[in-house]
Amino acid sequence: MKVYPQTVHFVGLNAPIGEEYDIGDLAIEGSIPSDVDGVFFRAVPDPAHPPKFDDDNLLSHDGMISAVRLQGGRASTSMRYVKTARYLAEQKAGRARFGRYRNPFTDDDDVKGIDRTVANTTPVWHAGRLLMTKEDGRPYRIDPETLETLGSYDFGGKLKSETVTAHVRIDPQTGELFFFGYEADGVASTKIAYMIADKDGTLIKEQWFDAPYCAMMHDFTITENYALFPIYPTTSDLERLKQGGDHWIHEMERDSWLGVMPRYGDVSEVRWFKGPKGVSCYHMMGAFEDAEGRIHFDQCLSNVNAFPFIREASGIHMQPWEVQGALTRWTVDPKGEATEVAETIVGPPGDFPVIPAAMQGRPYDHGWMLTMNPEMKGPPVFGGPVGAMFNMLLRLDFKGAPPQALPLAPGMSFNEPVHVPSSEAGHEGWLVTIVDTQTGENDFTHACWIIDAGNVGAGPVAKIAIPHRLRPQVHGWWVPSSQLANAAA
Ligand SMILES: [Fe+2]
Repeated sequence: MKVYPQTVHFVGLNAPIGEEYDIGDLAIEGSIPSDVDGVFFRAVPDPAHPPKFDDDNLLSHDGMISAVRLQGGRASTSMRYVKTARYLAEQKAGRARFGRYRNPFTDDDDVKGIDRTVANTTPVWHAGRLLMTKEDGRPYRIDPETLETLGSYDFGGKLKSETVTAHVRIDPQTGELFFFGYEADGVASTKIAYMIADKDGTLIKEQWFDAPYCAMMHDFTITENYALFPIYPTTSDLERLKQGGDHWIHEMERDSWLGVMPRYGDVSEVRWFKGPKGVSCYHMMGAFEDAEGRIHFDQCLSNVNAFPFIREASGIHMQPWEVQGALTRWTVDPKGEATEVAETIVGPPGDFPVIPAAMQGRPYDHGWMLTMNPEMKGPPVFGGPVGAMFNMLLRLDFKGAPPQALPLAPGMSFNEPVHVPSSEAGHEGWLVTIVDTQTGENDFTHACWIIDAGNVGAGPVAKIAIPHRLRPQVHGWWVPSSQLANAAA
């Protein structure tokens, strides 16, 4: 029997499940809109073995790839481990052999040198290829039909960076994939690799440059003409890692930065704009240029790192309610004199921001995100790496209309939605998301909800029951059936 630590990362909604399965003919309540024909791929961390060290956290758990297939009015689901080199090495031994979160110096001697990424963060679809990503390593390619792992993916041997982040940006007009890796040549390095793959997935450019310091760089953005690299002061240190310490410490007295470069330019053109000290962010809603050439960069910013385990490692003792944030816009003029960002609040606190893929890098007048219902009586569902699951979906309108909200009942929680465009002119499309319902101390049920993206307050138009326990998802990706038919060989 596998015995896991009884910490927040392994109990309740976070309790390990570790089962691969295929379930067909899921019960559908309501009707699936005809626009929603495709597969919702989801990244779900789930440890195959109890960890080597009890202070293990959810971000370090083995990646599983889940598919929720909504095709031809029918629904099915599957779950598979990503068969990473690390997963295979641990399966062979029947126990954990890799040590602390992103600290290779704590691994068993005989696995040193084996790729230690768990590929647990985002399923990325580009040019007919499905990749499972995590920012500490290269992606793994997955067969979108069978969910079997096809191996570590290095863009046909062209990629030099040792890492690729889980947040990429695809230009809706050119179909190019813009992406980056940090700690590109090893843990605690300041090297950032910036890559572009063309619409066919061929890596056409890789350039390296230095960050102001080694920071956790989870996400980035593009505009029509620029690539934007935010730096928040969650930092690493090689000596600390060598001593078996934490990969990340958050430094409240250190500046944040926004690196701005022409997206097809040379990395020598990166201009660093200074931001506030001590702030943190995991996800950006998007970025765009205005008529005056200024760049607006919208992010789910908080006053400290949102992960309790990183705050604890940093000696930052804050109550949950002291962690505050907002959808925050940083504006910079890439050709202007100012050397600091100008900050404006444009939305509420929350995370998992979504805009239509067609608006990537362009001005957008609406978007969606998850937040906590401020009027909720009682605690949120406990789960995920932060310790609390979001319980309200918002549609934000940047033209001045009031926000739309879909609050859940107590004991229910949202995972990050994906947006599915509509073929009907003027229709904002659909959001597809997994909703958890707590039915007992350690009992949960789950369903996939389809929500009218332009009328979220109306609630789901369809609910598809998922008759299996699910752990919290990190990120998902929607792939329409028409694109799946063109999967690369
Ligand atoms: Fe993320």
